[in-house]
Amino acid sequence: MAADEERTDWATRLSRVECRNVTCLRPPPPFWTEASGARVRDADGNTYLDFTGAFGVAFAGHRHPMVVERIRQQADRLIHGMGDIQPPAVKVEFLEKLAAHMPWPESRTILGLSGSDAVEAALKTAQLATGRTGVIAFEGSYHGLTLGALATTHREHFRRPFTDRLADHVHYLPFPSSPEGAEQVLARVSSLLSNPVSVPVGAVIVEPIQGRAGVRTPPDGFLAELGERARAGGALLIGDEVFTGMGRTGALLACDPEGLVPDLVCLGKALGGGMPLSACCGPPQVMDAWPPSTGEAIHTSTFLGHPLSCAAGLGFLAALEADGLAERARRLGDRAIGFLARELGGQEDVVEVRGRGLMLGVELARRARGAAPAAEVAERALALGLIALPAGEDGNVVELTPPATLAGAELEKGLGILVRAIRSAR
Ligand SMILES: Cc1ncc(COP(=O)(O)O)c(C=O)c1O
Repeated sequence: MAADEERTDWATRLSRVECRNVTCLRPPPPFWTEASGARVRDADGNTYLDFTGAFGVAFAGHRHPMVVERIRQQADRLIHGMGDIQPPAVKVEFLEKLAAHMPWPESRTILGLSGSDAVEAALKTAQLATGRTGVIAFEGSYHGLTLGALATTHREHFRRPFTDRLADHVHYLPFPSSPEGAEQVLARVSSLLSNPVSVPVGAVIVEPIQGRAGVRTPPDGFLAELGERARAGGALLIGDEVFTGMGRTGALLACDPEGLVPDLVCLGKALGGGMPLSACCGPPQVMDAWPPSTGEAIHTSTFLGHPLSCAAGLGFLAALEADGLAERARRLGDRAIGFLARELGGQEDVVEVRGRGLMLGVELARRARGAAPAAEVAERALALGLIALPAGEDGNVVELTPPATLAGAELEKGLGILVRAIRSAR
């Protein structure tokens, strides 16, 4: 059977058993069967370079040996515990190691399985700590799709069918792209926090670099000042580092080099080395807003602190250090930006090459009609053996978040394919 027909076969089978809307089957995507490092193999035997890190998860590469080994050892002993009642010991080990990476002298954590879980936990924590339910979020933001998180996710595409169920206490402000814009936004933050509003604001939630909106970085100094203003107004600053965190941007947290120490940090994606694992972390003075458990936790879930995820998380943290992943991300990212800027500089339909570390975006000119340009580039790249994702509200940014374990030759090969795909786009 030819490769395309085989793909169609998998797609047809999936369409008969999975709810519509979950997986886009037109055109039929590759169905993954194996992955290692930055290489992915599909059910038809094709291999690809994965420059998405599978939504940014495989920051340490797919199946990093340290992650695999920890999972294997754990699987031999305990696969499931009783999260908040009789916890697996490996949860304690993981929480201790994670706390050592956080920016506070002591850190407390609520674990989850997805980025949305971490955001839900942070929003609840902020409400308990401040007694206020209002939230300031930013246009373009993506904080997840569960109902609490979705109320802070900006894009209409995700919100529209559920608008009536979304809390209406979220104030959206523009995500600034210039120092003047930043000043205006900060003034509005202060005003919302100091003037009476129907639902007082207890949290400001921000992605230090907006990922899904197309790798958008705010002007220098904005994030630190945002933190100051939030605290001055009695609100907490939630740094949503689900995408940016754990080294991806060249620092452990993207807030670090900005001089922002958030009151709460949300982590996910890379944290579990490929296993579902997320975390809402904060210092005791914030997290102790939760009352001690008297038997039944008011925020928990069946798989909280899952042993295999915690073991994988320990493997990831070990790899982060052993392989110097944050530093690698910084160096590889600088190389990538230099290469792309050189190769695409004169290209008429390329607006900007941007990003930090291994969170990069190539912004393409918007189209009045027809296919979104980044999706078209991603499709061409795929045919040439490179996996890249479209991003941005208008689908005009090609987003690159490859593993930091990428070899130099792989980086060059992948970028070369991307440049060809962009140059040959209509
Ligand atoms: C910044 C940010 N926050 C939260 C989420 C939601 O994470 P998940 O899809 O694991 O629920 C994402 C996912 O892309 C994200 O990029």
